[in-house]
Amino acid sequence: MKLTVFNGSPRGQASNSHRIVAPLLDGARAAGAEVEEVFLIERNIQHCRGCFSCWGGTPGRCVLDDDMAELLDLYLDSSYVGLASPVYGMYVTGLLKNFMDRLLPLATPHIQRSDDGTFYHEGRVKRFPRQMFVFNSGFPGEHNFLVLQTFVEVAKRMNPGSVVLEVYRNCGEALQLADGENEELTARIVRFDAALREAGRELVAHGAVRPETVEQIHLPLATDEEYMAAVNRFWDEEIGQRGG
Ligand SMILES: Cc1cc2nc3c(=O)[nH]c(=O)nc-3n(C[C@H](O)[C@H](O)[C@H](O)COP(=O)(O)O)c2cc1C
Repeated sequence: MKLTVFNGSPRGQASNSHRIVAPLLDGARAAGAEVEEVFLIERNIQHCRGCFSCWGGTPGRCVLDDDMAELLDLYLDSSYVGLASPVYGMYVTGLLKNFMDRLLPLATPHIQRSDDGTFYHEGRVKRFPRQMFVFNSGFPGEHNFLVLQTFVEVAKRMNPGSVVLEVYRNCGEALQLADGENEELTARIVRFDAALREAGRELVAHGAVRPETVEQIHLPLATDEEYMAAVNRFWDEEIGQRGG
């Protein structure tokens, strides 16, 4: 069994997204799965040209010569794929949006009508991997995840495999701010990491994550006020140090 997460943060290995994905994949690895995290920022992925060659001239294959052919194979060879991104402008990063656009060769061109009256393109392959989403926002609250539902909707249409886990981590920068001095925050992050590891284990062992584990993942890392104070203090110090 292979779990692959495509991380769309421009911060790559230093990202909060990776900070969340790492324990999830550790748990899956410890339970016997093969795991991989692909940092999209490190790969050569050009923009979709919109030429539809992958539907007409070269069905299932993109005309662009870059890393995407290899990544499409990896996507399809995985039992589970994860799409991870920080919230940027209430949506995903351009890196992840671009990656999603480049999944177009996986779809067939003809327009189909679904039972609910909306329209879609059928998948080109028989088996799609099951999906996970890992999002984190810089703001507290849930408001900044609302528009992301559009992305999730598109991902579900692109990949009819079922969704097994959705992580919406608000106060994402709290993961960077924990320096061990704030014992409460450190303890909450330890609990968060443990819940993510458990989610990875459950996925491999049972093919699903228990609602209790999902609940643990979404417990607050800080109150809105604590988080705002910590972030604002960080920026005061940062600006002060630069003589601003
Ligand atoms: C260009 C840009 C746009 C952002 N837009 C939002 C936003 O709309 N809402 C939000 O909550 N955070 C926003 N953020 C903050 C990031 O989501 C936050 O810093 C996140 O923890 C970064 O995660 P990463 O380390 O995985 O990239 C934005 C950050 C940048 C650089």
